[in-house]
Amino acid sequence: MEVRLQKLIAGTGLASRRKAEALITAGRVMVNGTTVTELGTKVDPERDHVKVDGKHLSAPQPFVYLMLNKPKNVVSTLDDPGGRTTVKDYLRGVSVRVFPVGRLDFDSEGLMLLTNNGELAQAMLHPRYHVPKTYLIKVKGVLTDDEIRSLEQGVRLEDGMTSPAQVKKVRKVEANSWLEITIREGRKHQVKRMLEVVGHPVIKLLRIRMGSLSLGDLLPGEFRFLTDREANTLRRLVEERVALAEESVAVTPARPARREGWARAKKNKSQRRRGAWSLTRKRA
Ligand code: URA
Repeated sequence: MEVRLQKLIAGTGLASRRKAEALITAGRVMVNGTTVTELGTKVDPERDHVKVDGKHLSAPQPFVYLMLNKPKNVVSTLDDPGGRTTVKDYLRGVSVRVFPVGRLDFDSEGLMLLTNNGELAQAMLHPRYHVPKTYLIKVKGVLTDDEIRSLEQGVRLEDGMTSPAQVKKVRKVEANSWLEITIREGRKHQVKRMLEVVGHPVIKLLRIRMGSLSLGDLLPGEFRFLTDREANTLRRLVEERVALAEESVAVTPARPARREGWARAKKNKSQRRRGAWSLTRKRA
């Protein structure tokens, strides 16, 4: 069966889907001896010979999922041109290439999911699928009920209004306070910027939940593999979110602004029918 070139590369664990696309457009991928830079190119893994930087692709890796409690002052990517400590430095003994699902600021802490399942990672991060992320934050001062309500309803940031959030007061500590905030988007510095808008800058930020995953008692700098049950629950949650988003697009009458999404949703549905949607595919 033919698959998109970037999907095939990502499936081997060599790179995330986005990085695989960058490899293709940079002219580093050859199919049957010819350099391919077209992102839509389809290949048959059984028939076509694909090379990246002159090396044959390895066989697809089984999916691996792990969670790390990122400590403060660690970069949430795998490499840092500035030579700072990265999350990779905490993954000793992990032989499979995994990629962080989203980022945490250098000074933020907490739950990071890492996986080689690029499809799941993309869906978890896409704002359209509304996968919730919960942060425990310490802020300057104490929020009024009105300030909490405005965070919950959405505040205006320079890149637009935020979607509805949930905010729970946790406790007051002298002049400051702790809150739990759940958002369903992932814009850069979003939580910090939201709290700035209501006049209560964030002092500390710890991510404690992502979708169905909870940080639990994992200590800063520790990681563990997800149990099969955790991985299956997460996959199911993301599949439900994707299906829900597709349904809501399908019942909305086609308007110009919607057409692209509607076409994409229909395409995804037909791909699913052909079994191409790897979230529903069982792998060892
Ligand atoms: N929001 C932020 O402002 N920072 C993070 O690290 C995560 C969410």
